[in-house]
Amino acid sequence: MTDPILMDDTAFVLPKLIEAGLREAILKVFPDVDPGVIQLQVCANPKFGDYQCTSVMAIAKKRKLNPREQAQKVLGELELSDIADEVQLAGPGFINIRLKPEAIKRALSKAAQQGGYFIQKTDSPRTAVIDFSSPNVAKPMHVGHIRSTILGDCLARILTLLGHQVVTDNHIGDWGTQFGKLIVGWKQHLDRDALIKDALGELERLYRKLNTACEEDASVLESARKELVKLQQGDEENLSIWNEMQEVSRVQFDKVYQRLGIHFDHTLGESFYNDQLKVVVEDLTEQGIATESQGAKVVFFEDIDGLKDHPALILKSDGGANYTTTDLATIQYRMETWNPDEIIYVTDGRQQLHFKQLFEIFRRWQPDAKVELVHTWFGSILGPDGTPFKTRAGDTIKLNDLLDEAEERAFKAVTEKNPDLDYEISREIARIVGIGAVKYADLLPNRQTDYVFDWDKLLSLSGNTAPYLQYACTRIRSIFRKAALNESEFLKSLGSDAENILELDSEFEKKLVRHLLNFGLVLESVLEDQRPNYLCNYLFELAGHYTSFYENCPVLKSEGSTRNSRLILCSLTRQVLERGLFLLGIETPEKM
Ligand code: ARG
Repeated sequence: MTDPILMDDTAFVLPKLIEAGLREAILKVFPDVDPGVIQLQVCANPKFGDYQCTSVMAIAKKRKLNPREQAQKVLGELELSDIADEVQLAGPGFINIRLKPEAIKRALSKAAQQGGYFIQKTDSPRTAVIDFSSPNVAKPMHVGHIRSTILGDCLARILTLLGHQVVTDNHIGDWGTQFGKLIVGWKQHLDRDALIKDALGELERLYRKLNTACEEDASVLESARKELVKLQQGDEENLSIWNEMQEVSRVQFDKVYQRLGIHFDHTLGESFYNDQLKVVVEDLTEQGIATESQGAKVVFFEDIDGLKDHPALILKSDGGANYTTTDLATIQYRMETWNPDEIIYVTDGRQQLHFKQLFEIFRRWQPDAKVELVHTWFGSILGPDGTPFKTRAGDTIKLNDLLDEAEERAFKAVTEKNPDLDYEISREIARIVGIGAVKYADLLPNRQTDYVFDWDKLLSLSGNTAPYLQYACTRIRSIFRKAALNESEFLKSLGSDAENILELDSEFEKKLVRHLLNFGLVLESVLEDQRPNYLCNYLFELAGHYTSFYENCPVLKSEGSTRNSRLILCSLTRQVLERGLFLLGIETPEKM
């Protein structure tokens, strides 16, 4: 993903300029402080200013110094006269900063000329591997995988935009005991026509059939075990069946990824690490990290709260390695290949124990490794009755079916609103709106809470939804159409005059532009704790500020420079809204 529009000229990223000024001043007073701890927040109450810095208080407290006195010293060193009107010391040592209207105008004018988004690239780029989506071969992708896919993609987009190196890796579950049963099923019951029509459906049927058969008849279970051993030993026929299962599954996964606009740099499934497992087990045993227990190899965590009663199995008594061992080999491979600063795993909350064990074993195994391991977990998607989301018949909902339904429902809404629209165009709008709505519904709640999937709510044109934000963008586009102006040419034609044209007199204009300036800060806060919901809420608030502005400050009915000033605000709002949606993985239609 490249972004030609993000320029190096960041003189208009005001919060970043203030942060830089603060860093300089604080470092003069505390030369040994880690600049990373110096941060700026948006003032919760605009009465006190636009931004607030609490870092000096924190630094002083740690050193048992008087925070207010230290903040006073920092103020003495702080040089922000270009940007700030007022810099005030408040309470026990808060530093409050109010922006100069001229600085805001300068920033907006630069952004208007450059197509800027009030974002500054990081000055300390990191390399992050993001392990997300990771469905299992021979099983359909279900709604549990949707959250991982959408969340992981969003994090990748934001990290990339801010200038970090991102490696996306789809750790597909393509190895394991289920393939024994699947191969027996394939050899005895495969329906080729069904496979061609719906490969994952057919594989699921075979798997279910064999599961029942194994429960009822021990000899079937035995033959599944034998087929698995043959596969693991490289038997040609079984390997070619396994390969075909991989292929047909991938084709179906790829269709879903294409619909969702998701791209992976790598798709290295569990099987890729097969030949490295033996070494991992040997290493852990030699180093005394794993011990023998009832014929298996196990790691105990006697000294760790929460893991005491949960030893991790790294080699089964039948000699089969498992999920944890594969994940250890995977970390090793990723370190050798990409040397990442962090690896982010995006999965369901039910895998918390697994990742705690994994990270702990890895630390013991490679205590010097600097890589940060992060489990970004999320809650479940619930149906209207508050239990896990299922079809009416009680089956798990397949991702493809869910997306079909989203598009269908959006199509109905679009054609009701706009019966005369060309069929192809309505379909395209429905695709963008339907898929956007599903993604947004997934990203909006705090990721660690379960959320209720509600079609009417997520497709609604009012409230905190994707269609509402998309609609806001299309309304702004239509303002320019009505004015018979090409938006980018209009901005270009104003050039640096924009700075003099801008009028920010009303409350509504002030609120809107101050919110615009904070786009980059919000993206940084999303990355701190992998929480895209901050971005959703930021965009929703932006749309709200825009609506108040639009209702109170006539745009097309005003004249001269007032009109131009307001048109600039309209355009900047649309650009930030669209860029924000893009970072959530959501497209915006031209019309709705
Ligand atoms: N395939 C797993 C599942 O569907 C998720 C894998 C997550 N990634 C990992 N490296 N363990 O539950």
